[in-house]
Amino acid sequence: MDNITFQALVVRQQGDDFIRQIEEQQLTDLPEHGVVVQVHYSSLNYKDALSATGNRGVTRRYPHTPGIDAAGVVVASQDKDVAVGQQVIVHCYDLGMNTAGGFGQYIRVPADWVVPLPDGLSLREAMMYGTGGFTAALSVHKLLAQGVTADMGQVLVTGATGGVGSLAVAILAREGFEVVAASGKAAEEFLLGLGARSVIGRDKVSGGADKAMLRARWAGVVDCVGGDILSRAIKSTLPGGVVTSCGNVAGADLPLTVYPFILRGVSLLGIDAAECPLALRHTIWQRIAAEWKFDHLQAQTAEVDLAGLSAQIDEILAGKIQGRVIIKHES
Ligand SMILES: NC(=O)c1ccc[n+]([C@@H]2O[C@H](COP(=O)([O-])OP(=O)(O)OC[C@H]3O[C@@H](n4cnc5c(N)ncnc54)[C@H](OP(=O)(O)O)[C@@H]3O)[C@@H](O)[C@H]2O)c1
Repeated sequence: MDNITFQALVVRQQGDDFIRQIEEQQLTDLPEHGVVVQVHYSSLNYKDALSATGNRGVTRRYPHTPGIDAAGVVVASQDKDVAVGQQVIVHCYDLGMNTAGGFGQYIRVPADWVVPLPDGLSLREAMMYGTGGFTAALSVHKLLAQGVTADMGQVLVTGATGGVGSLAVAILAREGFEVVAASGKAAEEFLLGLGARSVIGRDKVSGGADKAMLRARWAGVVDCVGGDILSRAIKSTLPGGVVTSCGNVAGADLPLTVYPFILRGVSLLGIDAAECPLALRHTIWQRIAAEWKFDHLQAQTAEVDLAGLSAQIDEILAGKIQGRVIIKHES
């Protein structure tokens, strides 16, 4: 087993530069954990691009193989609950950050990072969702668990064309919500096609920094961007409404007073896919495979091999990617 060789996209530091190249590796190059997975598919996330370009907030040590998402087949296991031959999903925790990730044809991970592939989902389909889709599903799951229902009013999704936002729009629409999608792009057709009832410009959901409260409008909010936009969304949430927060592309600061919380009973829920407990992870993947599976994802997914991946990393850094990019490993 240890003499298996495989290909991986390895990032090496050379002076101030970070060089990406496909290298041949052995299983002994991987960290010593209990489960070895042959990766069939991975997917590209913004975090992977940060890891691939030397962002120390994501990856401290190089050389390193990024890839926070992986779907494949178990080829060795020291754990009684993880069987050889089982199809599995592994994503987040430390995968692709400081543990060699899904941009290699094999990964070696702790058994408690491994989620069995749910019935109704192929390995490829799982990576069409990846961490972005999982985060959208987790956000909606938490909103529903908090008691937000379709008859309570409109639900806002910010960063709506992004990986998380676009899936959140689709899932909320399927749950019967009247979804208002906020976007900085001219993407009305795309967002209405996902199930949004209306689309508003990003400029309509920012501003109002001088006011502690704004006209109450949203029964729920799935925020993917943070900053001023999240701040305004919280100030505009109806009494008893719920807001989820998962991202910071618009900023990490959250200028607010306590008034939306103490005068309207608004709840703010944090979303952390990386450390989501395994039992909840199972539940979310089950929901994706059953209630929240969408045919349209196929048309919005581009597939590359390891050789084509580096160019896609440059594209995502330049904000040019629309839809999802998955990586197919040669078996
Ligand atoms: N907490 C977690 O567990 C978790 C998991 C996954 C991702 N995330 C985070 O969630 C966020 C969204 O991830 P993603 O994969 O959807 O990213 P993405 O595909 O890059 O989408 C982000 C979207 O945000 C909007 N946007 C971009 N720059 C903006 C700006 N300066 N101000 C306001 N809006 C802006 C854009 O949508 P429009 O053009 O439509 O406005 C963009 O498509 C990121 O911050 C990511 O790091 C967190």
